[in-house]
Amino acid sequence: MFARPFELIHQLLAREESNEVPARVAGWLRTKRETKELAFLELNDGSCQKNLQVVLDKGQRDWSAELTRLSTGASFQVEGTLRPSPAAGQKWELVAQTLVVVGEADPTVYPLQKKKHSYEFLREIAHLRPRTNTFGAIARIRNTIAMGIHEFFQTYGYVWVNTPLITASDAEGAGQMFRVTTLDLDHPPRTPEGHLDWSRDFFGKEAHLTVSGQLNGETYATALGAIYTFGPTFRAENSNTTRHLAEFWMVEPETAWLDIHGNMDLAEAFLKFLVTRLLERHPEELAFFEQWVQPGLLETLSTVAERPFARITYTQAINVLQNSGKVFDYPVSWGIDLQSEHERYLTDEVYRGPVIVTDYPQAIKAFYMKQNPDGTVRAMDVLVPRLGEIIGGSEREENLEILQVRLDQLGMKRQDYAWYLDLRRFGTVPHSGFGLGFERFLQYVTGMANIRDVIPFPRAAGSAEF
Ligand code: 4AD
Ligand code: MG
Repeated sequence: MFARPFELIHQLLAREESNEVPARVAGWLRTKRETKELAFLELNDGSCQKNLQVVLDKGQRDWSAELTRLSTGASFQVEGTLRPSPAAGQKWELVAQTLVVVGEADPTVYPLQKKKHSYEFLREIAHLRPRTNTFGAIARIRNTIAMGIHEFFQTYGYVWVNTPLITASDAEGAGQMFRVTTLDLDHPPRTPEGHLDWSRDFFGKEAHLTVSGQLNGETYATALGAIYTFGPTFRAENSNTTRHLAEFWMVEPETAWLDIHGNMDLAEAFLKFLVTRLLERHPEELAFFEQWVQPGLLETLSTVAERPFARITYTQAINVLQNSGKVFDYPVSWGIDLQSEHERYLTDEVYRGPVIVTDYPQAIKAFYMKQNPDGTVRAMDVLVPRLGEIIGGSEREENLEILQVRLDQLGMKRQDYAWYLDLRRFGTVPHSGFGLGFERFLQYVTGMANIRDVIPFPRAAGSAEF
């Protein structure tokens, strides 16, 4: 048997009956306000967005010793009577009988104060920022979405597979990998020709942190039928943007017997499920983001949950962009990789919501995508307003010869992908999958402008604090 040592504020505030009850809570002080007769403490225990108002009656006893030690950030335990609050805007308050200050937070040095702090400043104190409204809300939403991801896929019989973080293959072929090595970089072993001798490294060959679990995921999908991975991925993208992290989480379902259309249906149902779940579970957090971060967020989310996503091909997208009459910084012609200004024109101005773009030119997509006869591949990217791409996926090339030729064309060695090619050599099946950037999704549903603010401890070019 286990019980948390104190009652949780979110449970106390949800009480339906209106009788008084004894209660014991503990947490951190947000603010304090005093009159001659009373003191009011805003107590937050992290269980919800709301604080519990604790009332100290100075007529009942002398609280001055406690009150001088209680400043913003201090931790304390309090026991008293929960009663309907006479004040507007809150249902309950706790009238204290005993109060123990456990840890003071010296107000001359405690960095979090009542005023609103900039996100830049809060990033510098990432160990304390979970104590703010914004970061507490993000942590709870992140948790709910993570659980929702599992629930969604489990409902459809997908098996969660844990793919390795250390890998010897480059899934995306984009060359943005972090090296994993134990070689002494000051005195590395060299081959007779003078190159670094990776055969003497820990794994006996070059190894990197994975950019995607997909290739390993495909091995299990072509045995178990449907799997998903959910874990950290790493990209040494030296782009200092508000949408890129060096370490981020990705969800990658992979489904046997599914073509690109089924894959799009899966992606759309998945995003709608997560948004609906969020609307049900976190009205308080969402109201907070609506008020302080992104006005219009709630409407955006309900539209995403209800309205079908637009679906267009890359070629149609290029036509729309070319006929827009807009001058883009990066000129539009068939074959270009869509830039974020192009994606945003499609999502923010033309379709005003999520758009799935399919059938991109082969040259700008990864080697494993299924080829169409016309020089395009069965790629599918889900683009959303404000952010652009949050999902990248495709139907996979399941034909052995076509895939081998593609590797050759790209100068990739067949023997490096021997096990991946085996999936096509033995009992090949059509299959499809995609990757959702977990933090990009969190950015979308909270309205947070910078991806570094939706992960507890961001790792990005030039920054790996905490
Ligand atoms: O489009 P990407 O590169 O696709 C893949 O990695 C495929 N192997 C997925 C699959 O088909 N199984 O990445 C997928 C998503 C992107 O759409 C984006 O949301 C996110 O991962 N992403 C990043 N998120 C944060 N920081 C970065 N540096 C990211 N790079 C990609
Ligand atoms: Mg992509």
